[in-house]
Amino acid sequence: LDNGLALTPPMGWNDWNAYKCTVSEALIKQTTDKIVASGLAAAGYQYVNVDDCWMANSRDAAGNLQPDYTKFPDGIAGTAAYVHSKGLKFGIYEDAGTHTCKGRPGSLGHEKQDAKLFASWGVDYLKYDNCYAGGTTQQYIDRYTAMRDALAATGRKIVYSICEWGVHDPWNWAPPIGNLWRTTPDIQPNFASMLSIFHTNAGLAAFAGPGRWNDPDMLQVGNGMTATEDRAEFSLWAEMAAPLLAGNNLAGASATTLATLGNKAVIAVDQDPLGRQGRLVASAGGRDVLAKPLVNGDVAVVLFNENAAAATITTTVSAIGKSGAATYSLADLWTGAVRTTTGAISASVPGHGVVMYRVSGGR
Ligand code: GLA
Repeated sequence: LDNGLALTPPMGWNDWNAYKCTVSEALIKQTTDKIVASGLAAAGYQYVNVDDCWMANSRDAAGNLQPDYTKFPDGIAGTAAYVHSKGLKFGIYEDAGTHTCKGRPGSLGHEKQDAKLFASWGVDYLKYDNCYAGGTTQQYIDRYTAMRDALAATGRKIVYSICEWGVHDPWNWAPPIGNLWRTTPDIQPNFASMLSIFHTNAGLAAFAGPGRWNDPDMLQVGNGMTATEDRAEFSLWAEMAAPLLAGNNLAGASATTLATLGNKAVIAVDQDPLGRQGRLVASAGGRDVLAKPLVNGDVAVVLFNENAAAATITTTVSAIGKSGAATYSLADLWTGAVRTTTGAISASVPGHGVVMYRVSGGR
């Protein structure tokens, strides 16, 4: 969507993966504090996003959505003001149908009224779902377009995240409508779920660019995969220029989890201003090679081992699109080690893990 927003993939946090319907103002404030104190804000995590279940079960007499005041004593406006006071941005969730996925009132027929309310509350990001909707592809397009236009009419800068639950192939219609669109079903905190999402999303590189991103769903880092698997997810999401929305208990996160989410060299690959999604340049026997061209001419490479046993994965500088030098430098983005190569790129990769390099030199 050409609204001047999300020129690099959105970064932040969303409560859903770890908390489902137990979201609250207290959780949002505690998490906001941790994002700042842990250094994640300085590393680029900007949006603090509330998912489903923030609402009361009905609209008020004027037809306005109402917060569930037992969960949000200061309302959404008060919660958003707290997030803003810490220098961060605030996001919310709604649905294009009659109800949200968890049964709260949807925006169908109320798009303008709801967009105005969100803007008045200080909302900077809307995740717009598609439960209780149905209909034809054209009807999806019309409903998502209605909210796009309603958001634009508020005059507030609001990132528009399309979560077209139950619809296939959003990449064929969503790029002019939303800043990002979900490509896959809800991610679960296990390697098999992450892997199947990766397989779909990796094939969609042609659709992504500044202001329009494939969304393979929020991160499960810290939610139960091994540290190796968490690193793999984080590296693959960065390589695919995916939104980096942490989905874990940040206040209680381990040092390892915070270090994974806070890896600035990997974040820089995700946030590279060229805005290219990395492509699979080789895939055989569960050994994958992805390459992502970066704005300064470097290429980010991920060697990903889908199998449980360690394996050597090998590629070359020419396979990742580089040429013209006698030697190239390989910076390992997880260990920090730098070495040179005349052309071969090869590493022993742990089971379910990655090795990730920034390759420089030549053209
Ligand atoms: C859908 C979405 C999830 C989450 C829930 C909330 O399942 O895909 O990301 O927003 O709805 O009910």
